[in-house]
Amino acid sequence: MAIAFTVNGKQVEVEADADTPLLWALRDDLGMTGTKFGCGIAACGACSVHVDGAVTRSCSVPLSDIAGKSVTTIEGLKAADGTLHKVQAAWIAAQVPQCGYCQSGQIMAAVALIEQVGTPTDAQIDEAMTNICRCGTYPRIRKAILAATGAAAAQTGDA
Ligand code: FES
Ligand code: FES
Repeated sequence: MAIAFTVNGKQVEVEADADTPLLWALRDDLGMTGTKFGCGIAACGACSVHVDGAVTRSCSVPLSDIAGKSVTTIEGLKAADGTLHKVQAAWIAAQVPQCGYCQSGQIMAAVALIEQVGTPTDAQIDEAMTNICRCGTYPRIRKAILAATGAAAAQTGDA
């Protein structure tokens, strides 16, 4: 069946079974490979995108739930003129990624958190940032989130 929704501000229509996970529509049908597959069971966060502004694990959301909704992926964060989102810029400044595999999901989770609460507390970061990083970049993720909000980074050490 044809399922219509918006991705990064553009209307798209995907021909797929209604139970196809959003992740595979993004990667296979729309060629947007910035969103990664890790576990497929909503546990790792590598596939995180925003759906109507809420961070969502796209491996576990059927396309039928996305019809008519607005999806933002890592490819859609930068401005039309190519300027990086402040969270992307903070990630680069803090040299957060190691292998990089988890990082688009981490950034999407961080952007949603900042949009929701402004400058998060350490407890709010702990609660919201449940994405797994097998490289252990968590201290740099925390530092970059705080830097993106203009807050002084807590001295949490480095990875
Ligand atoms: S691939 Fe979706 S949460 Fe792991
Ligand atoms: S940077 Fe390697 S999994 Fe997170």
